[in-house]
Amino acid sequence: MIRRSIAALAVTVGATAAVSIGPLPVRAAPVTASTAALCPAVPAPVTEQQADRAWSIAADRLAQLTGPRSLPFGATGGSPVVRTGPSSWTSGFFPTALWLMYEHTGSASWLRRARTYTALVEGMARVRWNHDLGFMVGTPTALGASLDPDEVRRGAYRRVHDTAARSLSTRWNPAVRALQSSTYSGRWGLIIDSAMNAPLLIEAGQEMASAAGRRLVARGVAHVRTLADTYVRANGSTLHRGAFDPRSGRFLGPIAGQGRSTSSTWSRGQAWAINGFGRAFALTDDPVLLDAARRTADYWVSRVPAGCVPAWDLSIRDPRAPLDSSAAAIAADGLLRLAAVEPDPARASTYRNYALTTLGTLVSPPFVTDGGRGLLLRQAYSIPIDPREGTYAWGDAYLLVALTAAFPNGRSQRSTISRAS
Ligand code: GLY
Repeated sequence: MIRRSIAALAVTVGATAAVSIGPLPVRAAPVTASTAALCPAVPAPVTEQQADRAWSIAADRLAQLTGPRSLPFGATGGSPVVRTGPSSWTSGFFPTALWLMYEHTGSASWLRRARTYTALVEGMARVRWNHDLGFMVGTPTALGASLDPDEVRRGAYRRVHDTAARSLSTRWNPAVRALQSSTYSGRWGLIIDSAMNAPLLIEAGQEMASAAGRRLVARGVAHVRTLADTYVRANGSTLHRGAFDPRSGRFLGPIAGQGRSTSSTWSRGQAWAINGFGRAFALTDDPVLLDAARRTADYWVSRVPAGCVPAWDLSIRDPRAPLDSSAAAIAADGLLRLAAVEPDPARASTYRNYALTTLGTLVSPPFVTDGGRGLLLRQAYSIPIDPREGTYAWGDAYLLVALTAAFPNGRSQRSTISRAS
Protein backbone atom coordinates (compact mmCIF):
# COMPACT_ATOMS: atom_id res chain seq x y z
CA MET A 1 0.00 0.00 0.00
CA ILE A 2 2.76 2.36 0.84
CA ARG A 3 4.95 2.03 -2.22
CA ARG A 4 3.32 4.79 -4.19
CA SER A 5 4.90 7.55 -6.15
CA ILE A 6 5.09 10.96 -4.56
CA ALA A 7 2.42 12.12 -7.03
CA ALA A 8 0.05 9.40 -5.86
CA LEU A 9 0.92 10.29 -2.29
CA ALA A 10 -0.09 13.90 -2.88
CA VAL A 11 -3.45 12.74 -4.19
CA THR A 12 -3.94 10.44 -1.21
CA VAL A 13 -3.28 12.93 1.54
CA GLY A 14 -4.18 16.09 -0.31
CA ALA A 15 -0.71 17.53 0.24
CA THR A 16 2.78 16.57 -0.83
CA ALA A 17 3.82 15.63 2.73
CA ALA A 18 7.20 14.61 1.32
CA VAL A 19 10.51 15.40 2.91
CA SER A 20 14.07 14.67 1.93
CA ILE A 21 16.54 14.78 4.77
CA GLY A 22 20.23 13.92 4.58
CA PRO A 23 21.54 11.08 2.47
CA LEU A 24 18.40 8.96 2.88
CA PRO A 25 15.35 10.50 1.17
CA VAL A 26 12.32 9.98 3.35
CA ARG A 27 8.70 10.81 2.93
CA ALA A 28 5.67 10.74 5.12
CA ALA A 29 3.52 7.72 4.45
CA PRO A 30 0.05 8.33 3.08
CA VAL A 31 -3.16 7.97 5.00
CA THR A 32 -4.14 4.36 4.38
CA ALA A 33 -5.31 1.39 6.34
CA SER A 34 -1.83 1.22 7.85
CA THR A 35 -0.19 3.34 10.50
CA ALA A 36 1.20 6.76 9.65
CA ALA A 37 4.95 6.34 9.30
CA LEU A 38 8.09 7.87 7.91
CA CYS A 39 9.46 5.69 5.13
CA PRO A 40 12.58 5.74 3.01
CA ALA A 41 12.01 6.21 -0.70
CA VAL A 42 13.92 2.98 -1.23
CA PRO A 43 13.93 0.78 1.89
CA ALA A 44 17.06 -1.35 2.14
CA PRO A 45 18.63 -3.65 4.73
CA VAL A 46 21.28 -2.12 6.93
CA THR A 47 24.83 -2.63 5.67
CA GLU A 48 27.88 -3.29 7.85
CA GLN A 49 29.27 0.04 6.75
CA GLN A 50 26.13 1.85 7.94
CA ALA A 51 26.21 -0.06 11.21
CA ASP A 52 29.86 0.88 11.74
CA ARG A 53 29.02 4.53 11.24
CA ALA A 54 26.20 4.25 13.80
CA TRP A 55 28.59 2.64 16.31
CA SER A 56 31.05 5.51 15.77
CA ILE A 57 28.34 8.10 16.35
CA ALA A 58 27.18 6.12 19.41
CA ALA A 59 30.71 6.19 20.80
CA ASP A 60 30.78 9.95 20.48
CA ARG A 61 27.32 10.48 22.06
CA LEU A 62 27.78 7.99 24.91
CA ALA A 63 31.19 9.45 25.77
CA GLN A 64 29.58 12.91 26.02
CA LEU A 65 26.99 11.53 28.45
CA THR A 66 29.57 10.07 30.85
CA GLY A 67 31.01 12.15 33.69
CA PRO A 68 28.21 12.90 36.17
CA ARG A 69 27.38 10.06 38.56
CA SER A 70 23.77 9.89 37.40
CA LEU A 71 21.94 8.16 34.56
CA PRO A 72 20.85 9.91 31.35
CA PHE A 73 17.11 9.75 30.72
CA GLY A 74 16.77 11.85 27.57
CA ALA A 75 16.05 15.25 26.08
CA THR A 76 13.45 16.97 23.95
CA GLY A 77 14.02 19.95 21.67
CA GLY A 78 16.90 22.13 22.80
CA SER A 79 16.56 21.32 26.49
CA PRO A 80 19.47 19.83 28.44
CA VAL A 81 19.64 16.06 28.90
CA VAL A 82 17.57 15.06 31.93
CA ARG A 83 19.47 12.73 34.27
CA THR A 84 18.07 10.51 37.01
CA GLY A 85 19.08 8.48 40.00
CA PRO A 86 18.98 4.68 39.96
CA SER A 87 15.28 4.39 40.82
CA SER A 88 13.99 5.58 37.43
CA TRP A 89 12.68 2.74 35.23
CA THR A 90 15.23 3.92 32.66
CA SER A 91 18.35 3.67 34.83
CA GLY A 92 19.64 0.43 33.27
CA PHE A 93 19.62 1.55 29.64
CA PHE A 94 22.79 3.67 29.77
CA PRO A 95 24.90 0.94 31.44
CA THR A 96 23.42 -1.52 28.92
CA ALA A 97 24.63 0.68 26.05
CA LEU A 98 28.07 0.99 27.67
CA TRP A 99 28.43 -2.81 27.95
CA LEU A 100 27.48 -3.18 24.30
CA MET A 101 30.02 -0.53 23.38
CA TYR A 102 32.61 -2.51 25.34
CA GLU A 103 31.56 -5.71 23.59
CA HIS A 104 31.82 -3.99 20.23
CA THR A 105 35.18 -2.32 20.81
CA GLY A 106 37.00 -4.38 23.44
CA SER A 107 38.27 -1.04 24.76
CA ALA A 108 39.35 -0.73 28.42
CA SER A 109 37.78 2.73 28.68
CA TRP A 110 34.33 1.39 27.77
CA LEU A 111 34.79 -1.47 30.24
CA ARG A 112 35.59 1.05 32.97
CA ARG A 113 32.54 3.14 32.10
CA ALA A 114 30.26 0.08 31.93
CA ARG A 115 31.40 -1.03 35.39
CA THR A 116 31.03 2.47 36.85
CA TYR A 117 27.47 3.03 35.63
CA THR A 118 26.34 -0.53 36.40
CA ALA A 119 27.52 0.02 39.98
CA LEU A 120 25.05 2.92 40.20
CA VAL A 121 22.04 0.62 39.62
CA GLU A 122 23.12 -2.49 41.56
CA GLY A 123 21.50 -1.33 44.82
CA MET A 124 18.11 -1.45 43.09
CA ALA A 125 18.32 -5.25 43.00
CA ARG A 126 16.97 -5.37 46.56
CA VAL A 127 13.91 -3.17 46.12
CA ARG A 128 10.51 -4.79 46.01
CA TRP A 129 8.41 -1.80 45.09
CA ASN A 130 9.55 -1.59 41.47
CA HIS A 131 8.44 -3.90 38.65
CA ASP A 132 11.03 -2.72 36.11
CA LEU A 133 13.98 -4.56 37.66
CA GLY A 134 14.65 -6.42 34.41
CA PHE A 135 15.31 -3.15 32.58
CA MET A 136 17.08 -1.49 35.49
CA VAL A 137 19.26 -4.28 36.86
CA GLY A 138 18.63 -7.48 34.90
CA THR A 139 19.99 -6.46 31.51
CA PRO A 140 23.14 -4.57 32.56
CA THR A 141 24.15 -7.20 35.13
CA ALA A 142 23.50 -10.05 32.67
CA LEU A 143 25.81 -8.28 30.24
CA GLY A 144 28.41 -7.74 32.97
CA ALA A 145 28.15 -11.40 33.99
CA SER A 146 28.88 -12.46 30.45
CA LEU A 147 31.30 -9.78 29.21
CA ASP A 148 33.44 -8.66 32.13
CA PRO A 149 36.92 -10.18 31.73
CA ASP A 150 37.33 -10.47 35.52
CA GLU A 151 35.87 -13.74 36.81
CA VAL A 152 35.25 -12.37 40.31
CA ARG A 153 33.27 -9.46 38.92
CA ARG A 154 31.30 -11.80 36.65
CA GLY A 155 30.26 -13.79 39.72
CA ALA A 156 29.30 -10.62 41.56
CA TYR A 157 27.13 -9.46 38.64
CA ARG A 158 25.45 -12.88 38.58
CA ARG A 159 24.59 -12.57 42.28
CA VAL A 160 23.10 -9.09 41.79
CA HIS A 161 21.10 -10.45 38.85
CA ASP A 162 19.76 -13.27 41.06
CA THR A 163 18.88 -10.84 43.83
CA ALA A 164 16.92 -8.69 41.38
CA ALA A 165 15.01 -11.78 40.19
CA ARG A 166 14.12 -12.74 43.76
CA SER A 167 12.98 -9.18 44.53
CA LEU A 168 10.79 -9.05 41.43
CA SER A 169 9.34 -12.44 42.33
CA THR A 170 7.90 -11.00 45.57
CA ARG A 171 5.36 -9.18 43.40
CA TRP A 172 3.77 -12.52 42.43
CA ASN A 173 0.02 -12.92 42.80
CA PRO A 174 -1.12 -16.57 42.57
CA ALA A 175 -4.69 -15.71 41.60
CA VAL A 176 -3.71 -13.48 38.67
CA ARG A 177 -0.68 -15.67 37.95
CA ALA A 178 1.45 -12.59 37.34
CA LEU A 179 3.82 -10.14 39.00
CA GLN A 180 2.10 -6.91 39.91
CA SER A 181 3.27 -4.03 37.72
CA SER A 182 1.73 -1.19 39.66
CA THR A 183 -1.60 0.20 40.86
CA TYR A 184 -3.67 1.71 38.07
CA SER A 185 -6.75 3.76 39.00
CA GLY A 186 -6.48 2.21 42.46
CA ARG A 187 -6.55 -1.36 41.11
CA TRP A 188 -4.06 -4.22 40.91
CA GLY A 189 -2.36 -3.42 37.60
CA LEU A 190 -0.45 -5.21 34.88
CA ILE A 191 1.40 -3.56 31.96
CA ILE A 192 2.49 -5.04 28.62
CA ASP A 193 6.05 -3.70 29.13
CA SER A 194 6.42 -6.34 31.84
CA ALA A 195 6.90 -8.94 29.09
CA MET A 196 10.46 -7.57 29.07
CA ASN A 197 10.96 -7.80 32.84
CA ALA A 198 9.52 -11.23 33.66
CA PRO A 199 12.19 -13.09 31.61
CA LEU A 200 14.65 -12.00 34.34
CA LEU A 201 13.01 -14.63 36.57
CA ILE A 202 13.33 -17.29 33.88
CA GLU A 203 16.99 -16.52 33.16
CA ALA A 204 18.01 -16.37 36.82
CA GLY A 205 15.92 -19.40 37.80
CA GLN A 206 17.34 -21.57 35.02
CA GLU A 207 20.88 -20.75 36.18
CA MET A 208 20.10 -21.65 39.81
CA ALA A 209 19.13 -25.31 39.18
CA SER A 210 17.34 -25.56 42.55
CA ALA A 211 13.76 -25.66 43.85
CA ALA A 212 13.91 -21.90 44.38
CA GLY A 213 15.15 -21.49 40.83
CA ARG A 214 12.35 -23.65 39.46
CA ARG A 215 9.83 -21.49 41.30
CA LEU A 216 11.29 -18.36 39.71
CA VAL A 217 11.08 -19.96 36.27
CA ALA A 218 7.48 -21.05 36.86
CA ARG A 219 6.47 -17.56 37.92
CA GLY A 220 8.25 -15.90 35.01
CA VAL A 221 6.64 -18.23 32.47
CA ALA A 222 3.20 -17.92 34.05
CA HIS A 223 3.48 -14.12 34.00
CA VAL A 224 4.30 -13.98 30.29
CA ARG A 225 1.52 -16.52 29.57
CA THR A 226 -0.98 -14.34 31.46
CA LEU A 227 0.02 -11.43 29.23
CA ALA A 228 -0.31 -13.66 26.14
CA ASP A 229 -3.78 -14.83 27.21
CA THR A 230 -5.15 -11.47 28.33
CA TYR A 231 -3.28 -8.65 26.54
CA VAL A 232 -2.92 -9.99 22.99
CA ARG A 233 -6.08 -9.30 21.02
CA ALA A 234 -7.44 -11.70 18.37
CA ASN A 235 -5.70 -9.71 15.60
CA GLY A 236 -2.29 -9.80 17.36
CA SER A 237 -2.39 -6.21 18.61
CA THR A 238 -1.89 -5.58 22.31
CA LEU A 239 -3.44 -3.51 25.02
CA HIS A 240 -1.13 -1.53 27.22
CA ARG A 241 -2.37 -1.55 30.80
CA GLY A 242 -5.16 -3.23 32.66
CA ALA A 243 -6.52 -4.17 36.07
CA PHE A 244 -7.24 -7.50 37.77
CA ASP A 245 -9.09 -8.56 40.89
CA PRO A 246 -6.18 -9.77 43.04
CA ARG A 247 -8.41 -12.21 44.94
CA SER A 248 -10.17 -14.00 42.09
CA GLY A 249 -7.60 -13.23 39.39
CA ARG A 250 -10.40 -11.98 37.11
CA PHE A 251 -9.42 -9.46 34.43
CA LEU A 252 -11.37 -6.26 35.10
CA GLY A 253 -10.52 -4.45 31.87
CA PRO A 254 -8.02 -2.15 30.17
CA ILE A 255 -6.89 1.12 31.69
CA ALA A 256 -5.56 4.04 29.62
CA GLY A 257 -1.78 4.42 29.58
CA GLN A 258 0.75 5.77 27.12
CA GLY A 259 -1.31 4.81 24.07
CA ARG A 260 -4.03 6.80 22.36
CA SER A 261 -6.93 4.90 23.92
CA THR A 262 -7.74 1.62 25.63
CA SER A 263 -8.72 0.13 22.25
CA SER A 264 -5.69 1.38 20.31
CA THR A 265 -2.21 -0.12 20.17
CA TRP A 266 0.63 1.88 21.70
CA SER A 267 3.57 1.35 19.32
CA ARG A 268 6.23 0.80 21.96
CA GLY A 269 3.94 -1.52 23.91
CA GLN A 270 3.56 -3.70 20.81
CA ALA A 271 7.33 -3.66 20.36
CA TRP A 272 7.93 -4.65 24.00
CA ALA A 273 5.45 -7.50 23.48
CA ILE A 274 7.19 -8.88 20.37
CA ASN A 275 10.56 -8.66 22.09
CA GLY A 276 9.43 -10.06 25.45
CA PHE A 277 7.43 -12.97 24.03
CA GLY A 278 10.27 -13.83 21.64
CA ARG A 279 12.81 -13.75 24.44
CA ALA A 280 10.63 -15.86 26.74
CA PHE A 281 10.09 -18.40 23.96
CA ALA A 282 13.85 -18.56 23.29
CA LEU A 283 14.38 -19.41 26.96
CA THR A 284 11.59 -21.98 27.30
CA ASP A 285 10.51 -23.43 23.92
CA ASP A 286 6.95 -22.90 25.16
CA PRO A 287 4.59 -23.06 22.13
CA VAL A 288 2.15 -20.64 23.79
CA LEU A 289 4.89 -18.02 23.88
CA LEU A 290 5.92 -18.75 20.28
CA ASP A 291 2.33 -18.20 19.22
CA ALA A 292 2.18 -14.88 21.11
CA ALA A 293 5.49 -13.76 19.63
CA ARG A 294 4.38 -14.62 16.10
CA ARG A 295 0.99 -12.97 16.42
CA THR A 296 2.35 -9.74 17.85
CA ALA A 297 5.17 -9.72 15.26
CA ASP A 298 2.76 -10.34 12.40
CA TYR A 299 0.52 -7.52 13.56
CA TRP A 300 3.49 -5.12 13.56
CA VAL A 301 4.62 -6.24 10.12
CA SER A 302 1.08 -5.86 8.77
CA ARG A 303 0.73 -2.30 10.13
CA VAL A 304 4.19 -0.85 9.53
CA PRO A 305 5.63 -1.27 6.02
CA ALA A 306 9.21 -2.59 5.94
CA GLY A 307 11.78 0.12 6.53
CA CYS A 308 9.24 2.56 7.97
CA VAL A 309 9.18 4.15 11.43
CA PRO A 310 5.65 4.38 12.81
CA ALA A 311 3.78 7.04 14.67
CA TRP A 312 3.67 6.62 18.44
CA ASP A 313 0.41 4.66 18.31
CA LEU A 314 -0.34 2.10 15.60
CA SER A 315 -3.92 3.39 15.21
CA ILE A 316 -2.70 6.80 14.01
CA ARG A 317 -3.10 7.75 10.36
CA ASP A 318 -2.21 11.43 10.56
CA PRO A 319 1.23 11.81 8.91
CA ARG A 320 1.97 14.84 11.11
CA ALA A 321 1.80 12.77 14.32
CA PRO A 322 4.98 12.29 16.36
CA LEU A 323 6.96 9.19 15.48
CA ASP A 324 8.44 6.69 17.90
CA SER A 325 11.75 5.43 16.55
CA SER A 326 12.41 3.65 19.87
CA ALA A 327 9.44 1.37 19.13
CA ALA A 328 10.95 0.56 15.73
CA ALA A 329 14.34 -0.27 17.33
CA ILE A 330 12.76 -2.48 20.01
CA ALA A 331 10.59 -4.23 17.40
CA ALA A 332 13.61 -4.75 15.11
CA ASP A 333 15.56 -6.34 17.96
CA GLY A 334 12.56 -8.51 18.88
CA LEU A 335 12.14 -9.67 15.29
CA LEU A 336 15.84 -10.54 14.99
CA ARG A 337 15.65 -12.57 18.18
CA LEU A 338 12.46 -14.27 17.11
CA ALA A 339 13.99 -15.05 13.69
CA ALA A 340 16.92 -16.73 15.45
CA VAL A 341 14.63 -19.26 17.19
CA GLU A 342 11.66 -19.40 14.79
CA PRO A 343 11.17 -23.05 13.73
CA ASP A 344 9.61 -22.10 10.37
CA PRO A 345 12.41 -20.98 7.99
CA ALA A 346 10.09 -18.87 5.82
CA ARG A 347 8.81 -16.92 8.81
CA ALA A 348 12.34 -16.57 10.19
CA SER A 349 13.53 -15.08 6.94
CA THR A 350 10.58 -12.66 6.80
CA TYR A 351 11.23 -11.42 10.33
CA ARG A 352 14.99 -11.08 9.82
CA ASN A 353 14.74 -9.24 6.50
CA TYR A 354 12.08 -6.93 7.88
CA ALA A 355 14.21 -6.14 10.95
CA LEU A 356 17.35 -5.47 8.91
CA THR A 357 15.36 -3.12 6.68
CA THR A 358 14.06 -1.26 9.73
CA LEU A 359 17.64 -0.89 10.94
CA GLY A 360 18.68 0.39 7.51
CA THR A 361 16.31 3.30 8.10
CA LEU A 362 17.10 3.83 11.78
CA VAL A 363 20.88 4.19 11.31
CA SER A 364 20.31 6.91 8.71
CA PRO A 365 19.15 10.54 8.96
CA PRO A 366 16.83 11.78 10.33
CA PHE A 367 17.10 9.08 13.01
CA VAL A 368 20.87 8.88 13.50
CA THR A 369 22.74 11.97 12.37
CA ASP A 370 26.28 13.27 12.66
CA GLY A 371 25.16 16.37 14.53
CA GLY A 372 22.35 15.04 16.74
CA ARG A 373 22.25 15.58 20.50
CA GLY A 374 21.36 12.00 21.27
CA LEU A 375 22.00 8.82 19.34
CA LEU A 376 18.51 7.83 18.16
CA LEU A 377 16.38 10.84 17.33
CA ARG A 378 12.59 11.13 16.86
CA GLN A 379 11.58 8.91 19.77
CA ALA A 380 8.43 9.47 21.82
CA TYR A 381 8.14 8.98 25.57
CA SER A 382 4.51 9.44 26.57
CA ILE A 383 2.63 11.58 24.08
CA PRO A 384 -0.45 11.96 26.33
CA ILE A 385 1.89 13.71 28.79
CA ASP A 386 4.44 15.35 26.47
CA PRO A 387 3.58 15.66 22.76
CA ARG A 388 7.18 16.25 21.63
CA GLU A 389 9.60 13.84 20.02
CA GLY A 390 12.93 13.47 21.79
CA THR A 391 15.99 11.33 22.22
CA TYR A 392 15.92 8.83 25.08
CA ALA A 393 18.13 6.23 26.74
CA TRP A 394 15.91 3.23 25.90
CA GLY A 395 15.88 3.91 22.17
CA ASP A 396 19.65 4.46 22.14
CA ALA A 397 20.20 1.20 24.03
CA TYR A 398 17.86 -0.86 21.86
CA LEU A 399 19.35 0.47 18.65
CA LEU A 400 22.70 -0.90 19.86
CA VAL A 401 21.11 -4.13 21.11
CA ALA A 402 19.54 -4.63 17.67
CA LEU A 403 22.75 -3.80 15.81
CA THR A 404 24.57 -6.32 17.99
CA ALA A 405 21.93 -8.93 17.12
CA ALA A 406 22.18 -8.02 13.42
CA PHE A 407 25.98 -8.28 13.28
CA PRO A 408 26.96 -10.44 16.26
CA ASN A 409 30.66 -10.47 15.41
CA GLY A 410 30.76 -6.98 13.98
CA ARG A 411 33.88 -5.47 15.40
CA SER A 412 35.11 -3.84 12.25
CA GLN A 413 35.25 -0.41 13.92
CA ARG A 414 37.02 -1.70 16.99
CA SER A 415 40.23 0.27 16.55
CA THR A 416 38.48 3.44 15.35
CA ILE A 417 36.12 3.60 18.28
CA SER A 418 38.84 2.71 20.76
CA ARG A 419 40.88 5.65 19.60
CA ALA A 420 37.85 7.96 19.56
CA SER A 421 37.04 7.10 23.16
N1 GLY B 1 6.56 2.56 30.44
C1 GLY B 1 7.80 2.24 29.85
C2 GLY B 1 7.92 2.85 28.51
O1 GLY B 1 7.66 4.04 28.35
O2 GLY B 1 8.30 2.17 27.60
